[in-house]
Amino acid sequence: MPTHHHPHQHGVIGGWVVRPYDWFVGGVVMRSTYRRIAEAVTVGVPDGGRVVDVGTGPGRLVAEIARRRPGLDVTGIDPSQDMLVRARSRTAGVPRTRVLPGTAEDLPFENESVDAVVSSLSSHHWADTAEALAEQARVLRPGGRLWVVDLRSHLDEDLGDEITAAGLRLSDDDLRLVGPVGGRLVCLAARKPLAAA
Ligand SMILES: C[S@@+](CC[C@H](N)C(=O)[O-])C[C@H]1O[C@@H](n2cnc3c(N)ncnc32)[C@H](O)[C@@H]1O
Repeated sequence: MPTHHHPHQHGVIGGWVVRPYDWFVGGVVMRSTYRRIAEAVTVGVPDGGRVVDVGTGPGRLVAEIARRRPGLDVTGIDPSQDMLVRARSRTAGVPRTRVLPGTAEDLPFENESVDAVVSSLSSHHWADTAEALAEQARVLRPGGRLWVVDLRSHLDEDLGDEITAAGLRLSDDDLRLVGPVGGRLVCLAARKPLAAA
C-alpha cells in the first residue's frame, strides 16, 4: 500500500463548523437527496461490491448507502480530521463501512477495485479537479460508475470535459434530485468503458 501524503488541503472543512454543517446541511437540507443518491449509485452494484464516497464529510451518505444495501462495502474518504471523527462516530457499528483519510486526488485504493465512486457537495473543494477525476477513474473497475453531485452555482464548468479526458463516458442517467435544494443541484454521471476503445 503506497503512503499517502495530502498536499491538497485546499477546501478542507474543519473546526467548529463541522457540527452545525452536519446538523443543518446533512440532517435537514440534504436528507432526502442522500436517499435518492444512495438509491441511484447502488443500482447495478453486485453484493460484495465496493462504493466510495469522496469528500464524505460527516459520513451521512456512507451510512445511507450501507443502510440501503448492507451487502456492499462502503468507504468514505475525507482529508479533514474533524470530519473523519464525525463520520467515524456516525458509522461506528455499521457493518462493512469504513472511513479513511485521503483526498479526491489521492485515493487509498488499488487500480480498478471500486464499483462506484460518488461525491456530494465536494467537487468544488477539490484542489485539482482534472487530477481528481483521473484518480477516480483509476480506481474504478471497467463498467464502474462515477457520480458527481454538486451545487449548480459551484460546479466547475469544465468538469464534464475533465470526466471525458479521464477516460470515462458521460451518461445521461438523470438523477432526479429532490429535497429543499434539489433544483440547485447538478449530477454528472459517467461510466468507465468495459474495454479500451
Ligand atoms: C461541503 S462538504 C460535503 C460533505 C458531504 N459529502 C455532504 O454531502 O455533506 C465538502 C467536503 O469535501 C472535503 N474536501 C476538501 N478538499 C477535498 C479533497 N481535495 N478531496 C476530497 N475531499 C475534500 C472537505 O473536507 C469536506 O468534508
